[in-house]
Amino acid sequence: MSFTLPELPYAYDALQPYMSRETLEYHHDKHHAAYVNTGNNLLKGTEFEGKSVEEVVKGSYGKNQALFNNAGQHYNHLHFWHWMKPNGGGALPGKLEKKIVEDLGSVDKMKEDFIQAGVGQFGSGWAWLAVKDGKIQIMKTPNGENPLVHGAKPILGCDVWEHSYYIDYRNRRPDYLKAFLENLVNWAYVEEMFEAASR
Ligand SMILES: [Fe+2]
Repeated sequence: MSFTLPELPYAYDALQPYMSRETLEYHHDKHHAAYVNTGNNLLKGTEFEGKSVEEVVKGSYGKNQALFNNAGQHYNHLHFWHWMKPNGGGALPGKLEKKIVEDLGSVDKMKEDFIQAGVGQFGSGWAWLAVKDGKIQIMKTPNGENPLVHGAKPILGCDVWEHSYYIDYRNRRPDYLKAFLENLVNWAYVEEMFEAASR
């Protein structure tokens, strides 16, 4: 199996004004496409050919840095498009909210810490909600890394590479993270991943 660039699950202008058509055109059509194409070239002839994206990510970590970078970013972006939706944000599904309150204190505290993780990630990377040892926790990772390589399962990730926000927010990464949580997150998809991670 090789990597395939998926279509966006919504129109390019569907996330405006929080994420512009221009950002999505570059981010999806150029950046994600490049991870897919470079990843496929790097996969050729390796032991990872025919493996699932998750297996390539976990297997190449610490062994084949170039392949890992592209496979990790492919995995992250596959979900990133679904972690957002038009008219996103709003109330969390009940079961997910209960678990977040239990593990992280409150929904407001989770948002505050998630934003802090994204702001505190020096340079490019991701802010996460991930399930580890049965608990939801906040994480941050550099570059293409994700919770899978730290024994955790990601349920929400926000891309804090500049390609994700610089056109719309310039250097205001905190504003981008806030808009992501308040206006873009598809909590139903987060809950779906939470359910899958809890099985
Ligand atoms: Fe990205």
